[in-house]
Amino acid sequence: MRWTRLAAGAAAALGAVAAYDVTQTRHAILRNFPVAGHLRFVLEKVGPELRQYIVTSNDEERPFSRDQRRWVYASSKGENQYFGFGTDNDVENAEGWTVIKHRTFAGPGAATARHAEEGEPLPMAKVLGAARGRRLAHRPASVVNISGMSFGSLSANAVTALNEGAKRAGCLQNTGEGALSPYHRQGGDLVFQIGTAYFGCRDEAGRFDLARLRDLVASAPVRAIEIKLSQGAKPGLGGMLPAAKVTPEIAEIRGIPVGVDCASPSRHTAFGDVDSMLDFVELVAAETGLPVGIKSAVGDLTFWDDLVSRMEGLRGSGGRGVDFVNVDGGEGGTGAAPLVFSDSVAYPFRLGFSQVYRRFAQAGLTDDVVFIGGGKLGLTENAVVGFALGLDGVQVGREAMLALGCIQAQRCHTDECPTGVATQSAWLQRGLEPQTKAARVAAYVVALRRDLLKVSEAIGVTHPALIGPDDIDLAEGVRSSASLREVYGYEPGWGELGPALREELLSTGG
Ligand SMILES: Cc1cc2nc3c(=O)[nH]c(=O)nc-3n(C[C@H](O)[C@H](O)[C@H](O)COP(=O)(O)O)c2cc1C
Ligand code: SF4
Repeated sequence: MRWTRLAAGAAAALGAVAAYDVTQTRHAILRNFPVAGHLRFVLEKVGPELRQYIVTSNDEERPFSRDQRRWVYASSKGENQYFGFGTDNDVENAEGWTVIKHRTFAGPGAATARHAEEGEPLPMAKVLGAARGRRLAHRPASVVNISGMSFGSLSANAVTALNEGAKRAGCLQNTGEGALSPYHRQGGDLVFQIGTAYFGCRDEAGRFDLARLRDLVASAPVRAIEIKLSQGAKPGLGGMLPAAKVTPEIAEIRGIPVGVDCASPSRHTAFGDVDSMLDFVELVAAETGLPVGIKSAVGDLTFWDDLVSRMEGLRGSGGRGVDFVNVDGGEGGTGAAPLVFSDSVAYPFRLGFSQVYRRFAQAGLTDDVVFIGGGKLGLTENAVVGFALGLDGVQVGREAMLALGCIQAQRCHTDECPTGVATQSAWLQRGLEPQTKAARVAAYVVALRRDLLKVSEAIGVTHPALIGPDDIDLAEGVRSSASLREVYGYEPGWGELGPALREELLSTGG
């Protein structure tokens, strides 16, 4: 009798915990895995102690180490994101370790308080589309924006939270190549991505349809258009949405059959070389009035030589040209890709971007193009290096997913994402409550901007676009270090704004 009562009591307690778990909105894991999900939090809490005896260190895991993930989680929750006791990296012996060189007496210095400068706007230093006189040219309000990740690859709730988060943080959300879904329409500004399958702007035969594009972008707050040539995680290979994720709704939005692998072609059909690509850019820009750019990983460099030489006569002549270049590093993320493409096709961001930038710099075109990049640039240190090499803004993909609650289970390609981020399962994505997670995405973007500003001020400048390639060294183990300028062969003035842009930025307080 006594045992029966005890068992009944335990069952009732577990039932109450389960009921609480499935109805609370803070933790997707608990909503999706009531009771059992608590184990994850217990392990997270005692992780540091356990790890002293077994498993990996804080800095070993990839793509994002435990420390990096903890920084994103804590930033997105507005929790204490400081680290105690000093670095646990072997900075003295590491090859290529980033050394940001602060200045003691230059500039006003950084505000010390933990949340100081979180309200500070941090717009880009350049006006997107200005050089080519696009009708809807504008200055992006944020140097941190959300990278293209399609509805389909991500869940409806994840896309909703990202768009709402973008609205709250005052940044742009790129739609990814899977068209513009109802979930992208929460009021956040958008960059519409045109992929090789032309989802959202294709005719019945799958060809690019200019009128559909015009009508689609006019129906939403689209501020720019990105033509996707390739993606760092799978360059030279089109997009792939596994059959398990092709629901009737996605099939309808994309105009494809249900439950069949949705493979985008690896090449565009609307253009076939740089010359015809520039015609396409001008056609789209003229029809929509929007700035138009390209997203590409960096492989064969003759593409970039060709692009730059065709843009060289641009200055003042109203010639053809892209308004922005988004370089995606080979270390970038994806919903699904073959291992060899994720690991070995295309240059990592720093090597790839510096080679692209050098070509624009030699042609004197860097002030006329907005440079953005992705590939773990949602971590402050990597972003700072990007700005020093000439970036105007960074795109955050997986870091925004971490802010949504992703635990790096790396099952995005299976439709079994336990946190509801990268799945079409109604039950699993129910765990991701869009309003709670929107606040986290916004808090993370704000925290990254805050850290960028504080690091800039530690260096002695007032905006990350003013950080130059002499401000950062890469350590070569214990023997020496070399500046980014030396490592990447940057000439004087490269990686920096031209005098007019610099003057403009400084006069606006940036
Ligand atoms: C789940 C997922 C889906 C993605 N979908 C797209 C896409 O539709 N179009 C695209 O250009 N890139 C896509 N990407 C790549 C990201 O936009 C980004 O370029 C890349 O992950 C590098 O940024 P990160 O290191 O901040 O994640 C996707 C990445 C992930 C993780
Ligand atoms: S939790 Fe795992 S499956 Fe879900 S988005 Fe993150 S890495 Fe992908």
